[in-house]
Amino acid sequence: MLATGSAVTGSTTILGLESSCDDTAAAVLRRDGQGGTRILSSVVRGQADLHAPFGGVVPEIAARAHAELLDHCVEEALDAAGVGLRDLDALAVTAGPGLIGGVVSGVMCAKGLSVATGLPLYGINHLAGHALTPRLTDDVAYPYLMLLVSGGHCQFLIVRGPAEFERIGGTIDDAPGEAFDKVARLLALPQPGGPSVEEAASAGDPERFALPRPLLNRPGFDLSFSGLKTAVLRTRDTIIAEHAGLPQALRADLCAGFQAAVVDVLAEKTRRAMTHLMAETNAPPALCVAGGVAANRAIRAGLETVSDSFGARFVAPPLALCTDNAAMIAFAALEQMGTRDPDDLSLAARPRWPLDLASPAMLGSGKKGAKA
Ligand code: KG4
Ligand code: ZN
Repeated sequence: MLATGSAVTGSTTILGLESSCDDTAAAVLRRDGQGGTRILSSVVRGQADLHAPFGGVVPEIAARAHAELLDHCVEEALDAAGVGLRDLDALAVTAGPGLIGGVVSGVMCAKGLSVATGLPLYGINHLAGHALTPRLTDDVAYPYLMLLVSGGHCQFLIVRGPAEFERIGGTIDDAPGEAFDKVARLLALPQPGGPSVEEAASAGDPERFALPRPLLNRPGFDLSFSGLKTAVLRTRDTIIAEHAGLPQALRADLCAGFQAAVVDVLAEKTRRAMTHLMAETNAPPALCVAGGVAANRAIRAGLETVSDSFGARFVAPPLALCTDNAAMIAFAALEQMGTRDPDDLSLAARPRWPLDLASPAMLGSGKKGAKA
């Protein structure tokens, strides 16, 4: 191995790579001898422009773009951090779950770097990256509740340690971001659907249309968004039939009604999950949220109301660390280093990789890849 930072200062400097969906990312983090961690750089190159003409992420295009962009992202991240490869102590890479072509690109790039430098390589579960981020941003203590809500994922995790995750529930069909994107498409609003539906909803009446709250009356923590999307489709068709078009005001009402239903479902299931976790903790555990959908103000407000009712801390990392990035992958490796060995060159890219192997596999695959 090359001479490293740790030998000199007791710190650990790590380069992380992420390429499991439509963002190519690299980041450099440094953990000091006292355990504090700093992000020295975090580079994220989105591919939205490449996929826009197709109305969704095209796996082959994503894989090719990752293969082209990874080297540039690594160089940029090292430059921005002011370090070279010889200043690093370790490498981390997303090894799944995700779109397999992209994950393979990242794993191959990381293996190449590991062979060239002799640095230890840690294959990281993308979901572990999201789930551990509140410890990077807010030093949250274990155990805590994590609600992961993005375009590809939706699950409740009890995070008990760097590699100890219990999935107590999740979506049985669409992820919430997927539902926002589909509703936007149904209502001829621009993609990504989340922000455009949220904006339209701000001018609407959430009570004008009665939309379902799927699975609300079923015990447990599972969620469903597919029926809600179908209800939006039916309501839209009724409006069009009655008005010979979709008046803007009614479209706003429909967006507001849809968003309110998502908020109600997420809030109620989160309330139950918090109650479940409270049964084993003395103090209220933190309620943490990650994923692109966590940007939604109504959803944040709904979840904050829940955490307030438990006297719990609400942690929503800044958006750049809530959505896909490589800092979370490097951080997860720093967290896990003391508890596991690095991987060797047999590290494989995995399209599916549930965090909690004891929980039953979740059905289906989101538009942006496998959900769990
Ligand atoms: O975490 P993310 O950036 O990417 C992955 O899914 O991996 O999440 C993107 C998703 C998209 O479906 C987008 O529509 C949704 O997050 N989103 C939102 C909002 N901003 C982004 N959903 C609801 N409200 C928003 N403001
Ligand atoms: Zn993600």
